[in-house]
Amino acid sequence: MIQLIRGFKDILPGEVELWQHIERTAVDLFTTFGYGEIRVPIMEKTELFARSIGEDTDIVEKEMYTFTDRGGDQLTLRPEATASIVRAYIQHKKYADDPVHKLFTIGPMFRRERPQKGRYRQFYQLDVEAFGIAAPYIDAQMIHMLHLLFERLGVSQTEAHINSLGCPECRPHFREALLQFLAGVEGRLCSDCLRRKDRNPLRVLDCKVPDCRDAVADAPAIIDYLCTDCQDHFKTVTQSLTRLKVPFFLDKRLVRGLDYYTRTTFEIQTTLLGAQSAVAGGGRYDGLVEALGGPPTPAIGFAVGFDRLVEVLAQSLTITAPSPVLYIAALGEEAKNVAFDCAIHLGQAGLRVEMEYGDKSLKAQMKRANRLGAAHVLILGESELATGNAVLRNMATKAQSDFPLDGLANALETMLRG
Ligand code: HAM
Repeated sequence: MIQLIRGFKDILPGEVELWQHIERTAVDLFTTFGYGEIRVPIMEKTELFARSIGEDTDIVEKEMYTFTDRGGDQLTLRPEATASIVRAYIQHKKYADDPVHKLFTIGPMFRRERPQKGRYRQFYQLDVEAFGIAAPYIDAQMIHMLHLLFERLGVSQTEAHINSLGCPECRPHFREALLQFLAGVEGRLCSDCLRRKDRNPLRVLDCKVPDCRDAVADAPAIIDYLCTDCQDHFKTVTQSLTRLKVPFFLDKRLVRGLDYYTRTTFEIQTTLLGAQSAVAGGGRYDGLVEALGGPPTPAIGFAVGFDRLVEVLAQSLTITAPSPVLYIAALGEEAKNVAFDCAIHLGQAGLRVEMEYGDKSLKAQMKRANRLGAAHVLILGESELATGNAVLRNMATKAQSDFPLDGLANALETMLRG
């Protein structure tokens, strides 16, 4: 038997209801705060991701599903959505009439990481981006919106970790200090860090290897090197969050795994997921639109790890699909004709009705009605056809009532609605 690919998964009925609940809650929230949906392809030219996420990142170096297609193009299954949305923003000149665009997208991403609980090779993100707003209020608005999303879903054990990564003005000073520090601990760094450190020393701070983490424990923190503009920006973000009563934690070690970030960066972490503690992450990327060929445009965004959020919520919440209001147990061809027309009529009227299409005994049909949790069962056999009355049974009270076959669908509709 052919099994699915390692790190990929099916989301089955019974599980999917929780996904739908989260998606509805998120879409409702994002829409209320003025974000409109955008749908972008799941595949792009490899170069788009390499240039935006950064050549030295784990994602680009090790994790992308990249292949040459039959026409010779280098393509990649998207490891994230930000790069594609930036490309679309530029390609469709969305900045032309108004640079401000607030967008969200929901869909699968692909990273060839080592699969474990909370980490998959195909995973889903709820991704939100805002273009054209330099003011720190949008940073606070996004972090607040994330907080509200978790609150509305009833997830309490989360904490917002925030940091600032500075800008092209102040980053070089920090880089110098960091390089100096790294020169002193070189002997303790992994081969990846040794290779990356001169080109991109910030990446060393994001290394997950325990020895590297120990080695950089006392590394300088970028927050201490911010220029006045970046300091002011960050201050407004933190003050706004305090006013909005969004709990946050200043995490000087937070650098994020993608190269495009500037200024405010954040992660929502939870203790409920074991090692994969980040349930959402994001930040500003004020240089990316220009770097990819658009006009200078400030931007910020985040992505929620949909799978991780589902795993957190599943610990406390079960959502089941609604049961049918009516099951029609029909015996014989003539009865099935009546049942079928009736089921279609009621379905059209917005009522969930099930019936047996095959030839099953009344006992088997009653069993199925029970298993589906039907609120009522309508029995339509030869004797009912002969008397011109179908029998409706309320499955909870066991009360039975007769329904004339003449005008049956309309009468049932009125009764079931009431
Ligand atoms: P990221 O931190 O790479 O950021 O991913 C965001 C979230 O996606 C993570 O916090 C995590 O919950 C989830 N995630 C990442 N990898 C996996 C995986 N292998 N399995 C399950 N869940 C995973 C980004 O992707 C940025 N594009 C976010 C962003 C948007 N920044 C600005 N705008």
